[in-house]
Amino acid sequence: MIDPYRIRKDFPMFENHIKMQGHDLVFLDNASTTFKPFAVIKAEEEYLTRFTSNTHRGDYDLCFANDSKVAEARHVVGHFINALDKEIVFTSGTTMSINFIALGYAAKYLTKDDEILLTLAEHASNILPWYKVSEMTGCKINFIPLTKEGRLTAENLKKVISNKTKIVAVAQVTNVLGFVNDIKEIAKVAHEYGALLACDGAQSVPHMKVDVKDLDVDFLSFSGHKLCGPTGIGVLYGKYELLEKMDPVLSGGGNNVKFETDVSVKYLPAPAKLEAGTLNIQGIYGLVAAIKYLEEIGMENIEDLEKNNRKYAISLLKHIPDLVIYNEDAESGIITFNMKGVFAQDLATYLNSKGIACRSGQHCAKLLHHFTGELATVRMSMYFYTTKEDIDALANALKNGGNFLDAYFA
Ligand SMILES: Cc1ncc(COP(=O)(O)O)c(C=O)c1O
Repeated sequence: MIDPYRIRKDFPMFENHIKMQGHDLVFLDNASTTFKPFAVIKAEEEYLTRFTSNTHRGDYDLCFANDSKVAEARHVVGHFINALDKEIVFTSGTTMSINFIALGYAAKYLTKDDEILLTLAEHASNILPWYKVSEMTGCKINFIPLTKEGRLTAENLKKVISNKTKIVAVAQVTNVLGFVNDIKEIAKVAHEYGALLACDGAQSVPHMKVDVKDLDVDFLSFSGHKLCGPTGIGVLYGKYELLEKMDPVLSGGGNNVKFETDVSVKYLPAPAKLEAGTLNIQGIYGLVAAIKYLEEIGMENIEDLEKNNRKYAISLLKHIPDLVIYNEDAESGIITFNMKGVFAQDLATYLNSKGIACRSGQHCAKLLHHFTGELATVRMSMYFYTTKEDIDALANALKNGGNFLDAYFA
């Protein structure tokens, strides 16, 4: 088992963060973004101080060094998720990756007779790009029913999928309810109907071993900043034949072989075709360092620690009077709750007064209230550097029930 207390020494934020209301920070907003270890900071600094140059666009050693770094990055990311190097496209993050699939693939191939299946638990970034496809092609958007608990299951997918379904776009781990979906089974059902499975891995790839070949997903999207890497860098994985079929959403330098005055363009093969413009090279340095750092710790160890922390947190939180937990049985480090009679944002503001960083509101899953009936919730989300003391701090702050706020109407 890894020791989060030792691991914290790798993260300068634990030493250097600003005080929150005079308190040391208890950071429980890791589903939103994560802290960066020295290794990532050093890698980015290396680019800035020793290797600054563009890629592909020069005939000198510095450029070659960065070309090699990008090639290495594709290999490191590919190895991390068991994909081929050429199946890795660098984007700015999950949002951009899903937009690429939606606008570059779905908008090209879907028609008004087709359907895309989503769930009510998806993040805005896995809903709005598909709405755009619907607007552009006339295709239907439908929703796979969730179980009573809020899970996506292959059984429920079977109830709604048909030969009209062309894309099933779902998260492997949802960002509010935090359930780990059985993506392998979901992909199997999707494929039986000839549909593609576009998996939103924003909340899964940072926390567990994800193997695209084993899951047999057609696309996988994730963000660097949620796995200890920098903001502004992310990944789109796609089966190579699908990347080849995609149109570039962004066009410009670096993605073409030639173009002519008659408006003809010959694009480079994927992934370059999908990476127009200067890459976030600094971000790529950081991403590689982040993935190597996680691999050194071990994804299985990260998953185990988070599961243990979750068990511990639930054991404390479930006994707190008036605390309603929406996902007691979820498997991830995300726990979502409300205090009866207290508005979620007031609760999060109260927690802030104790130095505890949690998120409140809709967490970008703005259709989920159709399922939970709650317009706002508070979400605590852990990572492998979360300690029992962090969890204790949250439980202690909450333990007086709703009595800490005047707005309590029990
Ligand atoms: C499930 C899920 N999908 C997509 C996103 C969007 O990620 P990004 O803002 O890094 O593009 C998030 C971010 O919280 C998320 O949790």
